Amino acid sequence: MQTWNIRQSIGDLLAIRDQLGPVYGSEDLCMLLYSLVRREQPLVVVELGTGLGATTAWIASALKEIGAGRIYTFDNGSHFQDASVKAFLSQLTGELQDLARLSQTGSYEACMAWIFNRVDVADRVQFVKSDIDFNARAVEAVAQGQKIDLLFSDFNHAPKTIIQLLGGYLAHMNTTSAIYIDSASTYLPSYWMLDNLVQMLNAKRIPAALRHGLDGDQWTALNELVDRCHFQLVHLVEKTPRSQNSTAWLRIASDDLFPAHATNVRFQ
Ligand SMILES: C[S@@+](CC[C@H](N)C(=O)[O-])C[C@H]1O[C@@H](n2cnc3c(N)ncnc32)[C@H](O)[C@@H]1O
Repeated sequence: MQTWNIRQSIGDLLAIRDQLGPVYGSEDLCMLLYSLVRREQPLVVVELGTGLGATTAWIASALKEIGAGRIYTFDNGSHFQDASVKAFLSQLTGELQDLARLSQTGSYEACMAWIFNRVDVADRVQFVKSDIDFNARAVEAVAQGQKIDLLFSDFNHAPKTIIQLLGGYLAHMNTTSAIYIDSASTYLPSYWMLDNLVQMLNAKRIPAALRHGLDGDQWTALNELVDRCHFQLVHLVEKTPRSQNSTAWLRIASDDLFPAHATNVRFQ
């Protein structure tokens, strides 16, 4: 059986990276996520904030190459409705010329479907046009109770949003998993809050703010995760001097002697 290779769609993926990526500053991040997905092979990927589909398309390409996994991506389409975004889309050229036309009359769903079909990854993507919910119920419904291996939050990086989001989503994360929060590392209140939060979680303490609104099952699941895992925070910061140029990477790993994902640990 012939396996899918990114080579087949690379021209279109590069057009997406180069033309759509800069709108949200994700032209490098989309490739970083592609590489990480290829290496770590998450089965359940959740993206909060699809935007124009650049990161979704690249993550889905990695899943397609691996031959497993699915990305569930959520967006209410609020940015797509902006006149400035419509004007931007209207002047797309080359491989994205047809998208330029479609974006003027077609729906957000139609445009996202066009992109994922164009790069041949539609079978790895579930796009959900809806508001992002903080208790992960919508994710639970589409992912049918599977734990999340990779969560990419790219819609709001205020400390209050992050804490609400982590409160709702941590209970749904796998014991080896990763959470990426775009722009949080260079917004000082969020950077400080995440640093403090990780220290508390590693001391097996759950701050009250994180428990807010959790039901009994979510509280139990959150406790189990914190009890069994440790948390590492890596601040991925770009040198490009633009307004939102960072991603906070929260790694979750089971307490163990061996590194997460290790499949072949050698002792000598
Ligand atoms: C920064 S963009 C996502 C960019 C995309 N991940 C990328 O890098 O290519 C943020 C998106 O979040 C969406 N958004 C913002 N607030 C939202 C909310 N409360 N519910 C759902 N979508 C929201 C906007 O419509 C916008 O498309």
